[in-house]
Amino acid sequence: AVKFALSLILAYLIGSFPTGVVIGEAFFHKDIRQYGSGNIGTTNTFRVLGPKAGTVVFLIDFFKGTLATVLPSWLGGMPHYVNLLCGLAAILGHSFSLFLRFKGGKAVATTAGFILGYNLSFFIVCFCIFVPTLFITSMVSMTSLISVVLIFIASLFFHDIYLSLMFAVLVILIYWAHRSNIKRIMEHRENMVPFGIVYWL
Ligand code: G3P
Repeated sequence: AVKFALSLILAYLIGSFPTGVVIGEAFFHKDIRQYGSGNIGTTNTFRVLGPKAGTVVFLIDFFKGTLATVLPSWLGGMPHYVNLLCGLAAILGHSFSLFLRFKGGKAVATTAGFILGYNLSFFIVCFCIFVPTLFITSMVSMTSLISVVLIFIASLFFHDIYLSLMFAVLVILIYWAHRSNIKRIMEHRENMVPFGIVYWL
């Protein structure tokens, strides 16, 4: 029980690390939350601070999810679903950060990292959903919204009830986190990435 509690707390703290805010303040003297979409995540960091900072923020936010998910296996002696719970704790930490008064990012990069830490073949399936969707929609937000539903459906073929339950929760979390994006998409004024079918049209 001690190990279980410890891994959940550590996972939440790892997820809470506000990478976008830290990189923005440390290297650009900018609070990323005041620019672009106001989000602290990978997409807005690319948009506001450029590709180098965006890549760094992506890698750190991604591996927060991976690290938290494999943590219980390192500590040892805990059932498999604890890996999932720690992944979820990190994602919740990212979106409701201890260091940002329980505000935070939109859960996408940290979710991707969790998937890699949990199951490599499922990660490959998810990659094959997300990347083509991005090249069609030219919008990271819309890609995230479509992908999380498709990934939930894909999880049903993995015969892992805990994984499907996890994605049922993530669908709700990611739609809620993207509520301002959903509004912009419906008003045809969502930010686009400079590539992909919708952008070229
Ligand atoms: O990375 C989150 C993405 O889905 C949307 O980000 O900055 O366009 O709201 P943003």
